[in-house]
Formats: sequence, C-alpha cells, structure tokens
Amino acid sequence: MATDNDLDPTPAPAHLIPAPVRTGGEGRCGFVFDPSTAITAAPGTETTERWLRTTLGAAFGLPLAPGANAEGGEPVANGERATNTVRLALDPALEPEGYRLSTGTGTGVEITGGSPAGVFWGAQTLRQLLGPESFRRAPVRPGARRAIPFTDIEDSPRFPWRGMMLDVARHFMAKDDVLRYLDLLAAHKLNVFHFHLTDDQGWRIEIKRFPRLTEIGSWRSRTKHGHRASELWDETPHGGYYTQDDIREIVAYAAERHIRVVPEIDIPGHSQAAIAAYPELGNADVVDTAALTVWDTWGINANVLAPTDNTLRFFEGVLEEVLGLFPAATSPFIHIGGDECRKEQWKESPVAQARIEEFGLANEDELQSWIIRHFDAWLTARGRRLIGWDEILEGGLPAGAAVSSWRGYGGGVAAAEAGHDVVMCPEQHVYLDHRQHGGPDEPMPIGFVRTLEDVYRFEPVPAGLSAEAARHILGTQANVWTEVMQNRARVDYQVFPRLAAFAEVAWSPLPASAERDFADFERRMATHYARLDALGVDYRPPSGPLPRQQRPGVLGRPIDGTPPNV
Ligand code: ACM
Repeated sequence: MATDNDLDPTPAPAHLIPAPVRTGGEGRCGFVFDPSTAITAAPGTETTERWLRTTLGAAFGLPLAPGANAEGGEPVANGERATNTVRLALDPALEPEGYRLSTGTGTGVEITGGSPAGVFWGAQTLRQLLGPESFRRAPVRPGARRAIPFTDIEDSPRFPWRGMMLDVARHFMAKDDVLRYLDLLAAHKLNVFHFHLTDDQGWRIEIKRFPRLTEIGSWRSRTKHGHRASELWDETPHGGYYTQDDIREIVAYAAERHIRVVPEIDIPGHSQAAIAAYPELGNADVVDTAALTVWDTWGINANVLAPTDNTLRFFEGVLEEVLGLFPAATSPFIHIGGDECRKEQWKESPVAQARIEEFGLANEDELQSWIIRHFDAWLTARGRRLIGWDEILEGGLPAGAAVSSWRGYGGGVAAAEAGHDVVMCPEQHVYLDHRQHGGPDEPMPIGFVRTLEDVYRFEPVPAGLSAEAARHILGTQANVWTEVMQNRARVDYQVFPRLAAFAEVAWSPLPASAERDFADFERRMATHYARLDALGVDYRPPSGPLPRQQRPGVLGRPIDGTPPNV
C-alpha cells in the first residue's frame, strides 16, 4: 500500500493534541488518503461527512466522494473503494463523545462514535494524523498522496464542558473571525463557546424590539489604549454588532461542529452600554443616566441597572429574543453574568431601597440575588438553565442554577458542595488575557504570569472536594477578556499556544500520579505549532513575541510594585 514513491509525507509520530486515552499500533503505514478515497457515512454521521469533505477535501484537493455504502449498508467486499474508504458509524456502547479510530482493518479508516459528536471528534484526530497540511485551506502540493500510520485509538473526554469564553463586547470581533474561532475550538475538541455579548463598553446582539441597544449601545467614540491606568486613548470610534441572522449563522456553524453556545447577557452590573441606550434602565434617581455614554475605559463600573419592574420586563424582552436565536437543543444554558455588580447606587437610591423593603430583603446583596432568582425562574419556566459568575452565590442561589467559578476555586467548591453544577474557570489559572511570560516584551501585559506550562498543569477538580461534589464539576473553560486585545491578531497571541494546553486539561485523563508530563506535551507541541502555522494562527512563539506582536510604550499591569491582580 505504501510502496509508491510519490507517497508523502512519510508517516510521522502522530503528536496528537489533546492526547487520546489510548493509542495502539502506531508506526507503519496503515492507510493512504488519495483521489480514490471515499467516505461512507452511516445515518447520524452527516455533520462529520460534510466537515471532512469541505475541510480535508479543500486542504488536499480531493473529492472524497460518497462511498459504495453511503446509504449505511456494508462496504463492498474486496472492492477498490472498500479498501480506501473513511467509514463513519455510531456505536451507542461507546461514551457519548467517545470514538474509536482504526486504520488496521484493511478497509480504510473506521471512525466509530458513541454519538454524532464522538464521530466528529474522531474526525479531528484523523485530520491531525494526516499532517499539518491538512490544516490548510487549499493544497500546497496537489496530487501528493498522504499516508497515515497504522493506528488504533480509543478516546473520550474527561469533561462534558470544555469551553472558551470570548469577550466580543470590549472589542468587537467580526462575524467571520467568530466563525474562525469556532473552527479553532473544534480543532482542539472543545465543545462550549461562551459568547460574552454585552458589557459596559458595547452591546453586540441585535434585539428587534429595542433597536437603540445596537444603534447607540454598540458604538463608543474612543477607547482607552492599554490598562485603565494608561494615559493613551485610541480616538477611533469603535463598535459593531451581530444581526439576528449573523447570530443564527454562528449558532448553526457551531452546531455543525458539535459546539454548544452559551450566550451571555450580563446583568445587573456591566450594563452601561444598555443604560446609555435606554437611560430609564439605570438608577436615574441618583445619577443623570441620560448623560451616560457607552463606556470608553476599563474597570468595574458603578452604573448598574435599577432593580425596577421596568428593568425586569425589558430584560425578559431581550431574553425572549435570545431564546429564539439560541435553541434549547444547543444552548441549554443561558449566562446572565451577575459579576462585579457595585452596590453604591442601590445604597443611595430610594427606588432600590424601597424594593429591598417591599421584598423584605436584608441588604443590596439580597437585592442582586432577588434579580438572579427572578431570571432563574423565568428561564426554568422556558426549559433553560441559568448560569452566572460566582458572585451569584452571594445572597443565596436557586436550586437549578449553575456557576462559573472565576474568582478562584472557592466559589466553585462552595457551589458544588451545595449541589450546584460548576464550570471551573479561575482567573488565577485560565484567564488567557493574563500575560504568558514575565519578560519586558509581552504586549500590554496584565494580571498574573501564566505560562504554557502553568496552563497545562491547571487541575479543574481541586483536591479535597467530596466525590459527590466532584460530580458537579461539569468541566472547565478558558476565558478571554479583550480590553487589551484590539483585533484578531492580539486575541490569537493571548489564546495560543495556551489553548492547546488547556484543551488537553479539559479532554485528556489526569495520570494516576496526578502530574501531567509537560516534557511530552512540549514534544507534541513541535508538530502542533506547524498545525497552527497552517491554520494562520498568530500565536506567541516559544522564543517570545515577534517585533510586530510587541506594543512598546503601552502601559499594562502590574507596574512597579503593583500586585498582579489589580
Ligand atoms: C469576570 O472576570 N468579571 C467574570
């Protein structure tokens, strides 16, 4: 099979990332991918069939025609196609997102998944086995034949929630770049896209019944350049939003890649853009909300929502449209934020104080909790689940609500021990906006130094958690806040290569020693960098930022003597 001298490239070590649970038989050539290669797809595997044809077909210039048993029957015995076929099938005996990939059967490649998603993750492994060129969009050596090693892989993820949060509010990311990020998540077997759509600095989703949210709320006249302590401003107006059709396209694109989307509408803090659009949403009895504009700098903002019936009805209206755009099947969770809600205005506001008295609440924390409970009941009645940042624990949390634990492990531990589902995303470990090296050349460095190795060694389930509570850790998520990321290249730089390490944390089993082997991961990264190059990802090179990736003179944090998390 592998005797032709045009065979290229020679099977190399697979260097799979994330590492599979079990790999057998690597070494000699097991399969050649060439113009005669066909795909046979059993019912239920059509998303993977389409993805293979559009992605690998484009990379290699191959038709990947439907095979003889495209209707789901048995392959033609001893036929030309039967020995050169990618066969996709389901086996419910496997883990739901698990798969088996085998090239040793003499009939081509078999990918069998426990569900359509499992088959898709198997196809991601096949792409890695085919070499870095399979990550390009057009063939660089048309006609070359690709061999993949003889291999037999059994694999399934450690966690069902393997996510990345992207903040498109601080800096808008064009729809095409969002779709590209969904492809990048899929390439790393990540299956949750947390879409941070609203914040003080911009409202990014079209809401038909409240057009000013995007007419006014999606634009700001200028932007702080660097950390909020920087004196630099970018005077270029910034903004943008996704139309409802853009959102539908993003959701469908994610679903085709077995990625769930978690839309976030952040309330009652982080709401200045909404208040700038509709001043009655703010605490107009204590501040002149009509004078507020979309915020142009960074930090924790005092302008929070007023706890009025009008505000509740307004956000019910917003969420009705959100539920229509993000169907329950692929968006069972709706994120309502709940983080960093400053309480000064509620303390001063007669309207807020009257609410506290009306509902017999003890204080402003309980007022926030009352708002969260309202939307928890509202979402639950519509078949969805509420998830929020760990501040939603303060003042009490409704039974079915889930928590994104960001201020450390503590909130997540408390929530899990109380029986709530938890996504672990502590800022001390997996905030990819934080600098990845302590050197002077890091662009706009903020927060903790968290290297590739630090992220690789992150453990989502803290020691000491009871077995019962550990079952409530749905998984983990890396968060990408974009205050100092003005464009896609800046996002790429912060996210990669660390997202590759994070993907392994989320997917691959923890070794019995509880110590991950970073040296082995680094060896595999040598190949993974070539994949990222082929994908056009503007990652941080191991040797440090390229000159064009540096931002000399733009202030970050910490500066001399400042603690890392200020
Ligand atoms: C957050 O980082 N404010 C959730």
